Amino acid sequence: VTMKKRNEQGQLMIGNINAVTLTEHYGTPLYAYDVSQIRDKARSFKQAFEEAGTEYQVAYASKAFSCIAMVQLAHEEGLSLDVVSGGELYTAQQAGFPMERVHFHGNNKSRQEIHEALIAGIGCFVVDNFHEMEILAEETRNMDVEARILLRVTPGVEAHTHAYISTGGEDSKFGFDLQSGQADAAVEKALDHSGLHLLGVHCHIGSQIFETTGFVQAIATLYQYLGHWHTVYGFIPEVVNTGGGFGIRYTSNDRPLEPGAFVEAVVKAVRNESTNHHMPVPEIWIEPGRALVGEAGTTLYTIGSQKEIEGVRHYISVDGGMTDNIRPALYNAVYDAELANRTEGQEEKTYAIAGKGCESGDMLMYDLPLPEVSPGDILAVYSTGAYGFSMASNYNRLPRPPVVFVENERHQLVVERESYADLVRNDLPLSSNELR
Ligand code: LLP
Repeated sequence: VTMKKRNEQGQLMIGNINAVTLTEHYGTPLYAYDVSQIRDKARSFKQAFEEAGTEYQVAYASKAFSCIAMVQLAHEEGLSLDVVSGGELYTAQQAGFPMERVHFHGNNKSRQEIHEALIAGIGCFVVDNFHEMEILAEETRNMDVEARILLRVTPGVEAHTHAYISTGGEDSKFGFDLQSGQADAAVEKALDHSGLHLLGVHCHIGSQIFETTGFVQAIATLYQYLGHWHTVYGFIPEVVNTGGGFGIRYTSNDRPLEPGAFVEAVVKAVRNESTNHHMPVPEIWIEPGRALVGEAGTTLYTIGSQKEIEGVRHYISVDGGMTDNIRPALYNAVYDAELANRTEGQEEKTYAIAGKGCESGDMLMYDLPLPEVSPGDILAVYSTGAYGFSMASNYNRLPRPPVVFVENERHQLVVERESYADLVRNDLPLSSNELR
């Protein structure tokens, strides 16, 4: 049982608006964000840095949830922005986000994306591999500009999380390997290219992390190498970026740390290591995605059909599923949910929540206790604000749900529901002559 706010009729409140009102306005499925929660998280990350008295940037990892309004909100809160594609960069441009605070990630940035980002004048490229570095060096030469870069390295720390979202280990597709000398070669090359300004290093050890130890270990490893590069190349980092991955509460079993606890641990570790290696303390950058938006998002569905297999399972189906939240099917991710339109009801039952997609694996939950449900009840699935909308698909040609922002007892649509016309927008009819 959660501690979510309810009105006197027992209906779920999202940012002081009745969830049922939202579904009446916008239909279901619906992604609803309590904007004040996003602001609170952003402010606690920043405040912890302010209190530590260090130079910093908190970059919102927009892959977690990107749309124009969200990028504008990140700007309002003084965040920087991490983008991983031309599409996310374009969204940032459309949102009027200051380009000098955009950091460009990705393990296979195309020449076109790099070119566009240079024209846009973004603040930093997080260079992942030699191929990218060569393209970037060439493009900066051709355009006679300079690119500020971080080198992404893999510190070999295994964060205890799902293998698909663990990224910092040695066997990872991301970044330059430290142990094998790859990273040394990368530093040498980066310092060599006149168009590249090497700011420092980046690492990201994984996602949904609940302890500070992994970050502290990763920083210790980074500094072994930074110390070496200082000695050999005289290189002193201006920036150390320790990535994102700060865990959130999906269910009552999750006990995430406060943003400040991560920041304190990271700042302390970077300070200690800098002192030990006789280097000035660099600017510290972090990249939270999930921690900023995850808990602020709730998905509202309407319950439809049911199927009870006596003694086996009682399925109830909702009007969305894996198309708006792939995480249960992809990672066995677990969520918490409740009825939004009422709390009272008959004795509790245990339900399996099925999506409407044509796939047996389209299940959102297997054992959800709820009062006896009827068609038309509204189900609220909590903590869907990160990697829900951003990983949504049109499988079965289901239109993607809309996104509504709620704040100060007002609600505003920020992404419209897709229409059937949207679904066929890029389709072209079979031509009468070309294939025959
Ligand atoms: N920085 C880098 C370099 C990353 O690769 C990521 C996530 C982040 C920051 C933000 O991580 P966060 O703070 O959101 O955990 N689709 C998966 C998560 C994939 C994360 C990939 N990289 C999921 O739904 O759990």
